[in-house]
Amino acid sequence: MKNMIKELDERREAALAGGGAKRMQRQHDKGKLTARERLELLLDEGSFEEYDMFVEHQCSDFGMADNKVPGDGVVTGNGTINGRLVYVFAKDFTVMGGSLSLAHANKICKVQDMALKNGAPIIGLFDSGGARIQEGVDALGGYAEVFQRNVLASGVIPQISVIMGPCAGGDVYSPAITDFIFMVRDTSYLYVTGPGVVKTVTNEIVTHEELGGASMHGKVSGVVEGTFENDFEALVQVRRLIDFLPASNREKPPTRPVFDEAMREEASLDSLIPDNPNTPYDMKELLQKVADEGDFFEIMPEFGANIITAFGRLEGKTVGFVANQPMVLAGVLDIDASKKAARFVRFCDAFDIPLVTFVDVPGFLPGTKQESGGLIKHGAKLLFAYAEATVPKVTVITRKAYGGAYDVMASKHLRGDVNYAWPTAEIAVMGAKGAVEIIFRAEANDPKKIAERTKEYEDNFANPFVAARRGYIDDVIMPRNTRKRVVSALRTLQNKQLTNPWKKHDNIPL
Ligand code: HXC
Repeated sequence: MKNMIKELDERREAALAGGGAKRMQRQHDKGKLTARERLELLLDEGSFEEYDMFVEHQCSDFGMADNKVPGDGVVTGNGTINGRLVYVFAKDFTVMGGSLSLAHANKICKVQDMALKNGAPIIGLFDSGGARIQEGVDALGGYAEVFQRNVLASGVIPQISVIMGPCAGGDVYSPAITDFIFMVRDTSYLYVTGPGVVKTVTNEIVTHEELGGASMHGKVSGVVEGTFENDFEALVQVRRLIDFLPASNREKPPTRPVFDEAMREEASLDSLIPDNPNTPYDMKELLQKVADEGDFFEIMPEFGANIITAFGRLEGKTVGFVANQPMVLAGVLDIDASKKAARFVRFCDAFDIPLVTFVDVPGFLPGTKQESGGLIKHGAKLLFAYAEATVPKVTVITRKAYGGAYDVMASKHLRGDVNYAWPTAEIAVMGAKGAVEIIFRAEANDPKKIAERTKEYEDNFANPFVAARRGYIDDVIMPRNTRKRVVSALRTLQNKQLTNPWKKHDNIPL
């Protein structure tokens, strides 16, 4: 018995040593943690249960029969985050660069299957050189097995990817299918092919950072949902995000104890809207003053910043906030904002998270760049997402709700459940200036007349009452009462039942 225990201890030690002390030191020298250190930070202390620590690859080509490390470059298992079960895998760069062999893929597939079966989120930590080059098609097949499971789990359990080192080739597509990708700044990069291949194929000379760094993906490509300073910050923020999410689509989102009065009034909101309709204000102030304890977790803060998407809580229950941001491009809907918000709305709908939408939108962004970029199809994504969503939808128009953007932003006509407007709301086909220029073109050379017409248009249309008279707005509310009115509305919608017609699946304009 003693010998058996000794052998087990030795085998465990060999697995825990990964690629050895030197390679671990190299990892630390680059400012990165090792796979196991990362899992220790991500999970509640002592909660990690590891699987498949003794798994080895079965490849014998290129001298691989003598190059085996127990665990084979990925640490897998489960643990808890603030007491709630999650499944995890963390690529170990110290073992053959975290590259994926068939055995390595099978380990990931095992935790994916467990997460799906048991209804718990799965979190992948990426730091890898891609397909294990010595394995050939086995590695390619292994990747596809992982992708298939990602797709089947989509909309059933939350899937989160954190890019914490190189992530290229086969490793990019699993994160791409998951719900949220986060990156660590400066130490991680994410691309299909690296700078070497790019130079060979296109003659373009680029750095890792330009091609797939966190700042590019966070701001320009929109591939990632957030970027963080270092491993520690990234993992702490993932813990925070998990607290907002349900374990699966079979469960309600978690409710947390609240120390914020549900019926709290915020007098300062009465003066949030500036006198001049073209002066911006920070929509995040409204989110802060409405959400429990002013706390919300922003998704894609730097990409498409003209719209805000964030998880927050009301009465301790998770809600998804979508809000136009007048501080950036006047809060206009463009391609990036439409895609970003559409994906967020669909996530919330898939996981039964009520949507709270704050509207201040001057319309869709005009111009050849937007039209040639496919604004019509991308804008339609947001419209589609709101229209198909069956979760509770509460909307508050704070200022502008112009044109098609009025329709799109969770209007009554797209099955908005409770739609409010502030007295400062302007719900119209377009702003007064543009409208007068079109309908009174004949008077364009008479500034006095144009001023009169503009005033007339503003008096008649630049207010919430035209819509309220038609029942398109359920009530005009005082800004200070926004939190309590939204909370009351959500209380009435707790048992909402709404289903869409049967279909195999829809055909959202991708
Ligand atoms: C096997 C690999 C490996 C790989 C790295 N290593 N990548 N082993 N297969 N794909 C090993 C190295 O031999 C080395 O082993 C150790 O990992 C660390 O690698 P270094 O090169 O020393 O590290 P670094 O300088 O930090 O460079 C990291 C890197 C580089 C940029 C990721 O290793 C690299 O370019 N790797 C190859 C990337 C690649 O082309 N992958 C295939 C993608 S194709 P030792 O023993 O020295 O520690 C693909 C297709 C799948 O994935 C498509 C499916 C859809």
